[in-house]
Amino acid sequence: MLERINALLKEVEDFAAQTKEQVEEYRIKWLSKKGEVTALFDDFKSVPNELKKEVGQQLNLLKTKAQEKINAQKEHFDAEQPTSDSSADHTLPGFPTLKTGSRHPLTIIKNEILEIFLRIGFTVSDGAEIEDDWHNFTALNTPQNHPARDMQDTFYVNLNPEMVLRTQTSSVQVHLMQQQKPPIRTISPGRVYRNEAISARAHCQFHQVEGLYIDEKVSFADLKQTLLYFAKEMFGADTQIRLRPSYFPFTEPSAEMDISCTICKGKGCNVCKHTGWVEILGCGMVDPQVLINCGIDEKKHKGFAFGMGIERIAMLKYQVKDLRLFFENDVRFLNQFTSA
Ligand code: DAH
Repeated sequence: MLERINALLKEVEDFAAQTKEQVEEYRIKWLSKKGEVTALFDDFKSVPNELKKEVGQQLNLLKTKAQEKINAQKEHFDAEQPTSDSSADHTLPGFPTLKTGSRHPLTIIKNEILEIFLRIGFTVSDGAEIEDDWHNFTALNTPQNHPARDMQDTFYVNLNPEMVLRTQTSSVQVHLMQQQKPPIRTISPGRVYRNEAISARAHCQFHQVEGLYIDEKVSFADLKQTLLYFAKEMFGADTQIRLRPSYFPFTEPSAEMDISCTICKGKGCNVCKHTGWVEILGCGMVDPQVLINCGIDEKKHKGFAFGMGIERIAMLKYQVKDLRLFFENDVRFLNQFTSA
């Protein structure tokens, strides 16, 4: 009996099927009810007791090996199966399980703004959202107890009066002026936070793009031309701008810029509250004290700065009436926006 078992073990070891059918043929030959291994198990009853242990072990080994061999050969042919399946239609479209997403409308507008300024030699720079009080306020001419702090309701980090969630991307200006030598010509997009009640027109988080240009001869005329160029590129060639005197602690003089209403072209409608104009950004000539705070020679250098809300531009461009839609991420809203 041992001899038969060992002979079969050798056969199993040497077995390499040529076809899938052959695997099945050998499974039947060895392991089916009438197979050789099954027959050996039947014969096992007649093995004398003193040999049972040794024969039993070999027999079990044979069964395991045969089963393993059959499984391995089967897997081998199954894996090959798809390529040889001539009934597959390779021209059928794939399953639409993976839908391509689209860019968020705020990202689309941000990219558009960046591209416009990149075309006229601005670089793009970045800053941290958790900022120290000095960079967010003090260096920008807004020390503790300055009334202008009331313009922006601030979130303090862990109630630490020194650390804030930045309320404006103007903080990036300060870092850049500390780190780089003029000329500096850069725009800084990013998220900002203010402790405001959430409504259709205000949110506790939103996005801004800050612009800064520092060089030896920079004038208010440069600022105006740059912003006019931006407005025309962003809202169309027939767009007009107007600058109204305003106040920001870090610019002198300061202004707010309006564009002619994109909806009624200046005739008067609900969007422009029948004035023909809509405000889109704040700007001005960098206050010499800010240059001093940031280590720039204020006698040699001048600069202009501007800051705008990305949501505001997006609302105007896309006629979105509720700011909250940008943060709810309802796909029915998001699906409407496409970008190149
Ligand atoms: N940081 C201002 C704000 O959040 C916007 C701003 C106004 C930025 C004038 C500027 C500027 O750079 O010159 O309201």
